[in-house]
Amino acid sequence: MSRKFLVALGSAALALSLAACSGGGAGSGGDTSDKKPGDLTIGVSMPTQTSERWIADGNAVKSKLEAKGYKVDLQYAGDDIPTQSQQVDQMITQGADVLVIAAIDGTALSSQLQAAAAAKIPVISYDRLIRGSKDVDFYVSFDNYKVGVAQGTALLVGLGLLNKDGSKGTAKGPFNIELFAGSLDDNNTQYFFGGAMDTLKPFVDAGTLKVKSKQTTPEQVATLRWQQETAQKRMENLLTSSYNDGSKVDGVLSPYDGISRGIITALQNAGYGSGAKKLPVVTGQDAEIASIKLINDGVQNSTVFKDTRLLADQAVNAAEAFLQKKEPQANDTKTYNNGVKVVPAYLLPIATVYKDDIKATLIDSGYWTAEEVAAGQAKK
Ligand code: GAL
Repeated sequence: MSRKFLVALGSAALALSLAACSGGGAGSGGDTSDKKPGDLTIGVSMPTQTSERWIADGNAVKSKLEAKGYKVDLQYAGDDIPTQSQQVDQMITQGADVLVIAAIDGTALSSQLQAAAAAKIPVISYDRLIRGSKDVDFYVSFDNYKVGVAQGTALLVGLGLLNKDGSKGTAKGPFNIELFAGSLDDNNTQYFFGGAMDTLKPFVDAGTLKVKSKQTTPEQVATLRWQQETAQKRMENLLTSSYNDGSKVDGVLSPYDGISRGIITALQNAGYGSGAKKLPVVTGQDAEIASIKLINDGVQNSTVFKDTRLLADQAVNAAEAFLQKKEPQANDTKTYNNGVKVVPAYLLPIATVYKDDIKATLIDSGYWTAEEVAAGQAKK
């Protein structure tokens, strides 16, 4: 899916939503502007604690709001959709004044959002866009299409087809690659996969990259709930079904560090990374500490760093704006059509991290310490 296509989709939907919903979307907020922070509660619903990024996101949003005096109800849903629906329902009945939600399934919360709108509770979609509801008031995230472009580019750089400065590399190929995408119920997946495939397509069309398994559709390459074990199993199956003729995998497009670790485990179990059988180039996302160690050790090629501290700041800014009955500041009002309306968004920049970038991008910025990188484990 091209950027042009996404933008066209966005503007068409914007025109539609302006025509159809001139009455406006959900709550402009209850009567909160004259209340003290200590009388206001922000409900924060996060998908899972199995990935350290969501733990960091939850803690950052909570501590930043608490530092401003607000009360915070932070809940994790264990990647279970009914649990998340129930937790959000409870936040509404317990009188939350704003909701910040990172959805497990972007389409599963419509009735909760309706209840929130009826109670005039503004809803901020956190990193993952909630779909199919007009009752989403704001979206904070990163430039998700660019994440996909960065992952496709990192695969090309790792294979030597491109240099880091974007110029043509010296490698000729052809290379065998395999593709992995995230969970199809997460709106981000189409942006990551679309951006990556737009970047890889000219090389596939030229025959320089070959997807040996021929599994290229989003449905074939998706990883339900982004699970490491699911990715490991699929990589094992790919190795058995498509590489039992002595051929080798040279590169794997992976959208997320947890998935990358599953892929790498499957490859190592099949003998890659020892002797002459070099590990393929494997991409990633989130700068999870276990993967940063693998990148530092030359096992994983790269990751895409999204500074969740900045994302938490934007969520806090948006929540405060709503509580003060103001509109949060958006920097994108075109791209994120949720199927019912275009949700105004604040999108943050991203950065590719190869081994050489770990110090400048992650250690010097205080995201991870040098000891954590060496140990592959977070201290706190
Ligand atoms: C996505 C998010 C990624 C990654 C993934 C798996 O929604 O944008 O950064 O965290 O979920 O958790």
